[in-house]
Amino acid sequence: MNQTAKWAIVTGGSRGLGYETAKGLIASGFVVYIIGKDAERAKNSAKVLGCKYRAVDVSDSKKFRQVLSEIVEEAQNSGLGSLDVLVLSHGVMSEKMSKTLRTSDDEWRRTLSINLDAVFTAVNELAPAMAEARNGRVIVYSACLGRMSGPGTHGGLAPYRISKAGVNAFVKNLSYETGLGARGFLVDAICPGHCRTDMGGPDAPRSAQEGAATAIWLATRDFDPTKDKTGLLWEDNQVVDW
Ligand SMILES: NC(=O)c1ccc[n+]([C@@H]2O[C@H](COP(=O)([O-])OP(=O)(O)OC[C@H]3O[C@@H](n4cnc5c(N)ncnc54)[C@H](OP(=O)(O)O)[C@@H]3O)[C@@H](O)[C@H]2O)c1
Repeated sequence: MNQTAKWAIVTGGSRGLGYETAKGLIASGFVVYIIGKDAERAKNSAKVLGCKYRAVDVSDSKKFRQVLSEIVEEAQNSGLGSLDVLVLSHGVMSEKMSKTLRTSDDEWRRTLSINLDAVFTAVNELAPAMAEARNGRVIVYSACLGRMSGPGTHGGLAPYRISKAGVNAFVKNLSYETGLGARGFLVDAICPGHCRTDMGGPDAPRSAQEGAATAIWLATRDFDPTKDKTGLLWEDNQVVDW
């Protein structure tokens, strides 16, 4: 490893869209660390991908921060520079019947702590150094079910939809705080579409590779701050309404 190599951390990289994103980044020459909750699965996925891994429950913010700081220390000891790309693909679906008036405190907290709070934890821990380096991209998996335009938030699966609407607000707000790309720090959200993963189910219309393509593109695209845009919600490499 050396300072010319780019490197990335991919949460949720043990399976599904995160796994496919990690695979695409490795194929593009990145050194990648994947993070999953289940240690055995993360280890096996990392072996197949040929990358490094850590296992942690991202809803435990203290442990999650510790793991992230250990990864950064290890990467820098091996000669890598500041983190180039952070992809946040971890996530859980809320229970089928989780309408607002029927959701328990536990189900609300479980979903929000993983899907939204852990996005804050990772970005708050890692992105200050990326912004300081004026080099870094944060890409967060949102969902069409969190969009405030169209039918995204038209009821049902309340903890999930609201966690993703929160992710959208988080990304937009952070992009304004960091200069909308003018200072070398990019942050974007994506709708992968309905994909065949453990979460999306076997009958979903899109493959996981198709769902991951926009994240890989955002991580690797050329970016000219005078004409290109960041701080947006993307689907199939196109901007869509929040
Ligand atoms: N699939 C779709 O159709 C679809 C559509 C729209 C948006 N999305 C979003 O895309 C992202 C990826 O979805 P997916 O379909 O790839 O999901 P998935 O196949 O169910 O994989 C979920 C990933 O998140 C990790 N994870 C879950 N809870 C965790 C926790 N508490 N701590 C650490 N890691 C945890 C899992 O780790 P383990 O393997 O260790 O459990 C796994 O790597 C999610 O944010 C999802 O909301 C998916």
